[in-house]
Amino acid sequence: MSEAKGFLITFEGGEGGGKTTQIVRLRDRLTKVGHDVVVLREPGGTVISEQIREVVLSSKNVGIAFTTEVLLFQAARAQIYREIVLPSLSAGKVVLMDRSRDSSVVYQGIVRGFGENLIEDLNNISTKNTYPDLTLLLDLPVEVGLERRRESGKVDRLDMESTDFHRQVREGYLKIAHADKSKRWVTVDASKSLEEVEENIWQAVQKRMGRS
Ligand code: TYD
Repeated sequence: MSEAKGFLITFEGGEGGGKTTQIVRLRDRLTKVGHDVVVLREPGGTVISEQIREVVLSSKNVGIAFTTEVLLFQAARAQIYREIVLPSLSAGKVVLMDRSRDSSVVYQGIVRGFGENLIEDLNNISTKNTYPDLTLLLDLPVEVGLERRRESGKVDRLDMESTDFHRQVREGYLKIAHADKSKRWVTVDASKSLEEVEENIWQAVQKRMGRS
């Protein structure tokens, strides 16, 4: 990692992959070896973005138009990049994000059908052309993910979508991870134990940060 610029790591994947747990574990490990770490989630992470999150994810808003959904995720993203992500990277911090631009590519671009190119153009406006240095795809079978999600009791508007929707999400992620030429994606088998997943993530992070 260069001293002038920080390092951006995003966690992506469908429901129940354990992104939130693993981010906390990675933050602790990185902090222990001396990094200044910032943890964020999308949509959310700033006062304004959390307000947008409430609108876009509330189970009450079943009537939300897909176009509104696309633009609200981008609005929340534009705000968090300007307020926190870009300044933190300039200050040399390691930024860990629970979802970012690739969630829009998969959920809105592929599954909702807006197209990857349109969403990437919007992503570039929202992020000022910022791509993650490393994207960890926590992949697991849809049934396992949804079961874990049910057990956690945490259900939002998008969780209520059909199993077929979640299957398309998984396929979408695997497709873009395989197609990516920049080699920023690492797919992790999230059906393994928390400890194994944590270890695999740590290996991938050390390898990538050591190389940059
Ligand atoms: P959250 O509870 O944060 O997700 P999870 O625990 O599943 O990671 O809810 C975020 C939801 O919003 C999730 O279903 C994915 C969806 N989403 C999009 O559709 N597009 C986006 O750009 C982002 C950031 C999230």
